[in-house]
Amino acid sequence: MKTYIVGNWKLNFTVGEASIYLHKLLKRLPNYRDVEVVVAPPSVALQPLSLQIDRHKMKLAAQNAFYRDYGAFTGETSFTQLHGLVDYCIIGHSERRYIFGEDDKMVAKKVAAAVRNKITPILCIGETESERTFGETADVIRDQLLSGLSEIGAEDVSKVLVAYEPVWAISSAKGAKLASPDEIAEVVKLVREILKEVYGGETAEKTAVLFGGSVNPSNAGAYLTVPGVNGLLVGGSGLILSQFADIIETAKRVRS
Ligand code: 13P
Repeated sequence: MKTYIVGNWKLNFTVGEASIYLHKLLKRLPNYRDVEVVVAPPSVALQPLSLQIDRHKMKLAAQNAFYRDYGAFTGETSFTQLHGLVDYCIIGHSERRYIFGEDDKMVAKKVAAAVRNKITPILCIGETESERTFGETADVIRDQLLSGLSEIGAEDVSKVLVAYEPVWAISSAKGAKLASPDEIAEVVKLVREILKEVYGGETAEKTAVLFGGSVNPSNAGAYLTVPGVNGLLVGGSGLILSQFADIIETAKRVRS
């Protein structure tokens, strides 16, 4: 399986800044065949960046999309419209769940719409700090994972990338805690156990599981060597070119 390094740019960069960043990153990166580099710019930059990107070196992801293909849904963008522009879409990020009120049902419909439109979903799951404190982590992971996958067929499950992003570990620059490799290992193991129980061992093995939450060049190596982790979903550090490039190079080193 490839190692995935995904940069989620969130609501940062103008179209011009995004284009300059991409230009510099493309220049800096060789083509690492076993590391799949993905960047998720703001939606307004996807079309121009899709013309600029070298798909042998990296791929584009959307940060969100709506589950209906066309119609009276003011302000939305569909997976049908994104088809051909992006290869991936982040779905169910905790910022979408908690700031924009997306529930498990909506997340499940989005995962299904992505698969229907041949876009790989990056399904984000993760508990909040209080859920962890109250011992609810395993239940939250099970609920978010199984409901997120509930609208697709069993044969499509291994096409989904599952990203474990504990909410309490996102944005350490703003005071979040760092997840320890052991804490991550425990949840990643649980994800695979649930997948095995519901979809069988082969699907559990073939499904990529990523970790996200305050990943930076100093912890990327440790996180990438957590058993069962197949990649990283990077926020703040992915906005700084030298740091993102460092993380990609770490992934390459850890692989070889
Ligand atoms: P940070 O790396 O800034 O904590 O963000 C993680 C994240 O939410 C990626 O999707």
